[in-house]
Amino acid sequence: EHEIKIPDTRYSFDGLFGTYDRGELQRGFQVYKEVCAACHAMHLLSYRNLRDIGLSDAEVRAVAQSYQIQDGPNDNGEMFERPGRPSDRFRRPFPNDAAARAANNGALPPDLSVITKARVGGADYIHALLTGYEETPPPGITIMEGMHYNKYFPGHQIAMPPPLTGEGQVQYGDSTKATPDQMARDVAAFLTWAAEPELETRRTMGVRIILFLVILGGLTYAVKRKIWARAG
Ligand code: HEM
Repeated sequence: EHEIKIPDTRYSFDGLFGTYDRGELQRGFQVYKEVCAACHAMHLLSYRNLRDIGLSDAEVRAVAQSYQIQDGPNDNGEMFERPGRPSDRFRRPFPNDAAARAANNGALPPDLSVITKARVGGADYIHALLTGYEETPPPGITIMEGMHYNKYFPGHQIAMPPPLTGEGQVQYGDSTKATPDQMARDVAAFLTWAAEPELETRRTMGVRIILFLVILGGLTYAVKRKIWARAG
């Protein structure tokens, strides 16, 4: 089994000083919401977290309210559904893992909350996986019933049908063209933010700490020179 090389996708958040591109994160959320959320939960996220990628309070409320959330029991001991609130967690597509498997040929669509941390390659892997399907597998490889060939999935047989197939599968609000490659990029960026929302704060803090240490080091050295000035 040869090693699969995951292509390097360039992102605004690459490198030591990289930051997220809010427009890209919002497009990525749209792809998650309109495509991936049919099968994949993101149970660590609440609708209010979308403030962080630039949605207004009103927009967050509108997104939350577009979902019916299970709640209860009420005073009569009954469960009921109500429109979502910003404080609700993202609604799961299936009530439990058994139901999720039953709908997916026995395979479990993993929760995507921290998937970029759970897979080698992070955003690059997600982008590669989503664009790595081939209709005809290379000679000598047989694909089982209900499975799909994917260049970048370990083992190459994946139960997830190609989710991003056609151009314009989602309608972006900005002028970005929704090609499968673009949608894959954007959703990979969104999933990176979901797994690491504190990335920008962490990096800003790092730069400040280095600056502080450099200045403190200089001061300490100057003071040392002054105190020991007569010693030599
Ligand atoms: C697996 C992402 C849409 C069903 C996965 C994995 C990722 C992923 C990262 C894990 C791969 C691994 O284990 O390395 C996405 C994204 C989607 C999307 C970003 C939207 C663009 C869908 C949809 C369905 C689906 C719409 C259902 C029709 C599955 C299943 C698996 C899976 C069943 C498990 C595959 C296996 O273990 O063989 N997906 N997915 N996904 N996904 Fe999706």
